[in-house]
Amino acid sequence: MIRVLARSVINGGSFNRNVSMAAFPDKALDRGFATTVMRMITTASSSPTEGDRKERPTPTPAPAPASEVKKGESHVMASSYWGISRPKIKREDGTDWPWNCFMPWETYEADLSVDLSKHHVPKTFTDKFAYRTVKLLRIPTDLFFQRRYGCRAMMLETVAAVPGMVGGVLLHLRSLRKFQQSGGWIKALLEEAENERMHLMTMVELVKPKWYERLLVLAVQGVFFNAYFVVYLLSPKLAHRIVGYLEEEAIHSYTDYLKDVNAGKIENVPAPAIAIDYWRLPKDATLKDVITVVRADEAHHRDVNHFASDIHFQGKQLKEAPAPLGYH
Ligand SMILES: [Fe+2]
Ligand SMILES: [Fe+2]
Repeated sequence: MIRVLARSVINGGSFNRNVSMAAFPDKALDRGFATTVMRMITTASSSPTEGDRKERPTPTPAPAPASEVKKGESHVMASSYWGISRPKIKREDGTDWPWNCFMPWETYEADLSVDLSKHHVPKTFTDKFAYRTVKLLRIPTDLFFQRRYGCRAMMLETVAAVPGMVGGVLLHLRSLRKFQQSGGWIKALLEEAENERMHLMTMVELVKPKWYERLLVLAVQGVFFNAYFVVYLLSPKLAHRIVGYLEEEAIHSYTDYLKDVNAGKIENVPAPAIAIDYWRLPKDATLKDVITVVRADEAHHRDVNHFASDIHFQGKQLKEAPAPLGYH
């Protein structure tokens, strides 16, 4: 009797938690069928009374956006059960907005007037340590990639998108612990992480990573995320200074990349569609335009991180200085 009861509790308690859409692979089963099964499971688990069933009409799912619906799939998305559907979004020219990963109001024209040659001269021990660390990290990178700038950029963007997220998360937690505003710095650092991730999403359209490069990303991310997390906890001024110098190196790398494209050593291919929409580039934009706007972004990240480090050097907290929101 006890065994039967225990089994029914275990089965009943864990069944719904263990069932997910992952149990219904797209190719193996029709998604519409999976959705129906999920609904049946949800309905069965909530065990509504007869009265409940009468009061609650079955929600009519909203049609999924055209871009979401693949050929042969049901037009009913699982999420529509919850009343979630994307509004119709158009470009300025009236065509449908094809991206879900970013919206038109997140796009911008890169500020190309930014000074690319700015350099923070290392003076203190912390500065020199940060500078030497970055120069040291450049040696294996140069040896591994040499002049394969596309591949190099793609791989480095997987690292570049980490510091903003780590800094943003730690400032977020600090804000919660101290019951204090962050002065906009959480958002500013998360914006940087998102901007860097968009660089990666663009680069991956231009260069297809090989299996061993994907493996390398896995290892590098594991080490870098944890190392940067610890450095930021111990010394945010060192962490931001390191990123400032990393961004200086990124500007040099993209300048070399641009030189090779200008010299005809690398084909000046058309810009990926994602880049044209994200940076509001002309329809006939090319790789050269993409490198130019990405390099401008890196120069802005350089400024933000050296600025953040300077604030800490003055013995102040980031929230005491204006956060560079929307500074791309
Ligand atoms: Fe980047
Ligand atoms: Fe950057």
